[in-house]
Amino acid sequence: MKTLKVNLPGREYQIDIGLNILDKQLPEAVKLNTAEQVVVVTNTTVHELYPDFISNVLANSGVKVSTCILPDGEKYKNLETLSLIFDFLMNISANRQTLLIAFGGGVIGDMAGFAASTFVRGIPFIQVPTTLLADVDSSVGGKTAVNHPAGKNTIGSFKQPEYVCIELAFLKTLPSRELKAGYMELLKHGLIQDAEFFNFTQQNTLEPLNFDYLKEAIFRSCEIKGRVVEQDETEKGLRANLNFGHTLGHLIETHAGYGKYLHGEAVGTGMLFAAFVSWRWNELEQNEWELISNSLTQIMLPVKLLKLDYETFRNLILHDKKAQKQAVNFILLKNLGESFILKETSVEKLWDEFKLFAQKFPEIISLE
Ligand SMILES: NC(=O)c1ccc[n+]([C@@H]2O[C@H](COP(=O)([O-])OP(=O)(O)OC[C@H]3O[C@@H](n4cnc5c(N)ncnc54)[C@H](O)[C@@H]3O)[C@@H](O)[C@H]2O)c1
Ligand SMILES: [Zn+2]
Repeated sequence: MKTLKVNLPGREYQIDIGLNILDKQLPEAVKLNTAEQVVVVTNTTVHELYPDFISNVLANSGVKVSTCILPDGEKYKNLETLSLIFDFLMNISANRQTLLIAFGGGVIGDMAGFAASTFVRGIPFIQVPTTLLADVDSSVGGKTAVNHPAGKNTIGSFKQPEYVCIELAFLKTLPSRELKAGYMELLKHGLIQDAEFFNFTQQNTLEPLNFDYLKEAIFRSCEIKGRVVEQDETEKGLRANLNFGHTLGHLIETHAGYGKYLHGEAVGTGMLFAAFVSWRWNELEQNEWELISNSLTQIMLPVKLLKLDYETFRNLILHDKKAQKQAVNFILLKNLGESFILKETSVEKLWDEFKLFAQKFPEIISLE
């Protein structure tokens, strides 16, 4: 098992990563928390694959456990589904001594975290991620959110978990497409902060699963993210670098309809675009651009976008229908392993680059 701490004043928490560790680690963490009752928030898919898994693990912990099962999918990551968690909590007379456990991928983690940050003004929560994406990214750092029809993750809060238990065994049932999508956020951490880590990922294949490799890669990914979050929890500056690839990524998710493309897939396309712009604007060297594009395109699936014109592009990027703003903070690469925030980037210039990008990579992104 590998262990990592995120040190935030008064809210330090531990992340454990390993194979077959949950049975021992989770009951200990729950005991430390002195909760009166535990509510597991999960979805139908995870519940079918792992029925009553967390309740069984906690069977001898002397704490009452109940399970709130939500519908599965990004398209349910909204206020309506969130209210199902609140209904559940009210029904079982939950209070400030109730501990939530998010058991699922990033969608479950983001929604359970948001519920934990607002129910009776805040209750503790633990993350038990079950997807690679949640292992390497969303379970760490305390961003919680639901989507608005007009903008991805636009309603949310910052709420750090009490503990994160990354049980690698859950990855055995994860479909290949989901694994690849999660891998994109892992590569992101190398691209923006750590060239050596990026090179380390390139020496291995994702499938078949290699748990020693995954343990190390997830650890390093969480470490990079954790260190950034320690310095800038609420994204006053530095943390925005973690949004590398997300400007176009979120546009793709919203424009295509939530769930059509996986978050990691959309972000992968967004990262390729951001690297392309970095190269075109003379930040990134040709050889590094080639290395990055070769690596990303190998695991990317094509994205098809319907009816995208400049107006729609602008509105989606700015979440603003009134055309007042024309610029956005955009994350670029200076080098492989070093990103920076280009403040006030003209959306019109990004649109020009986007059209070129779509011409150069018709197999990756096509426009109607
Ligand atoms: N909070 C953050 O910092 C942060 C960071 C990155 C992404 N996110 C969010 O995370 C979400 C994406 O997360 P995701 O990729 O985990 O998607 P997801 O939660 O939708 O999970 C992907 C699919 O895999 C299924 N699944 C989960 N565990 C499984 C398992 N072990 N075996 C088989 N199937 C399993 C799920 O039911 C779902 O169908 C997005 O909404 C994104 O915005 C948040
Ligand atoms: Zn992301």
